[in-house]
Amino acid sequence: MYLWIKAFHIIAVVTWFAALFYLPRLFVYHAMSEDRVSQERFKIMERKLYRGIMTPSMVVAVGLGLWMLQQMPFWMSQGWMHAKLTLVVALIGYHFVCGHYLRLFANDRNTRGHVFYRWFNEAPVLVLIAVVILVVVKPF
Ligand code: HEM
Repeated sequence: MYLWIKAFHIIAVVTWFAALFYLPRLFVYHAMSEDRVSQERFKIMERKLYRGIMTPSMVVAVGLGLWMLQQMPFWMSQGWMHAKLTLVVALIGYHFVCGHYLRLFANDRNTRGHVFYRWFNEAPVLVLIAVVILVVVKPF
């Protein structure tokens, strides 16, 4: 059972990250777009990605992760798990910051340029590298 939960945990993590990488990329193109038709199309793409994939994936990934912890409470005594959970909290914060920018774009109130979103897009990359090393290598 535990391994089944882990398999679906990893699947949900992959789909969550696909959206975490793509949504800020859409913000880059949206911030560069100048015509009304493109802007309205980006709004729809952003909303569907966030509501249809990103948030459900986050809920499933976190839910299955917590379910594994309930089955294996020993992991909570490990330093790597504390570090991982700290990064996951930061990632959930990033997720909701994306939701905030999405609402600004939806109301035509975005004030940031494409260069900002290009840098913003890099943050989840760092979290992904750190968390995968923590859970696989379990260095401490
Ligand atoms: C609250 C959120 C999360 C919790 C409670 C959680 C918990 C867990 C637990 C208990 C395991 C099993 C560890 C083992 O059996 O060795 C696991 C595995 C894993 N988690 Fe998470 N996780 C969460 C979020 C994430 C996120 C955001 C990522 C990716 C960045 C991630 C990536 C992984 C990977 C790749 C594994 C497989 C490790 C392996 O056995 O090879 N998890 N997680």
